[in-house]
Amino acid sequence: MSSQSKPIILLSRQEIEATVRRLAAEITKDYRNRNPVLISVLKGSFIFMADLVRLLDFPLEVDFMRLSSYGRSSRTSGKVRVVQDIGSAIKGRDIIVIEDIVDTGLTTSFLLGYLREKNPASLRLSALTEKPSRRKVSVNVDYLGFTVPDKFLVGYGLDWDEKFRYLPDICYVEVE
Ligand code: IMP
Repeated sequence: MSSQSKPIILLSRQEIEATVRRLAAEITKDYRNRNPVLISVLKGSFIFMADLVRLLDFPLEVDFMRLSSYGRSSRTSGKVRVVQDIGSAIKGRDIIVIEDIVDTGLTTSFLLGYLREKNPASLRLSALTEKPSRRKVSVNVDYLGFTVPDKFLVGYGLDWDEKFRYLPDICYVEVE
């Protein structure tokens, strides 16, 4: 990306807010009495998680994980490792993974497999966005925000090389 190129809005903050409200309503309907653990995948889902939990007016817990694909690239390398694990025991608990984006699906698929081995009572996924055109492994998103085109997204937590996470809208940038 040239240093001159500017992020262009794809999804406005108003559209995002309405969608997060819709997801919160769906999750509330299913989890109101289940005291779920919401696991946010850092760093990209931190804003989505923060907005979402404030719309969930029932008992729940939060936890965080950090995953990384090797290499520094705008495209995932496909090799995933756990950089920071959850702090809570999730055996027998109802888990909702909170993701920013499902692109090839490799990261999310790894994560769901990793968490499944810890024997939760149930395991579901909420992703704010997904890019089906780039999917390499099948991942079922239980609570999906937006289906997005094959563009490199930034803002609302998403970054390009650690830039632009703070933008309130979801934008796209031209990358090499
Ligand atoms: P996947 O393994 O290809 O599904 O990609 C997972 C991770 O790659 C996401 O959690 C993001 O951190 C990153 N990623 C994929 N596409 C984008 C994008 O368009 N913008 C920013 N990060 C992305």
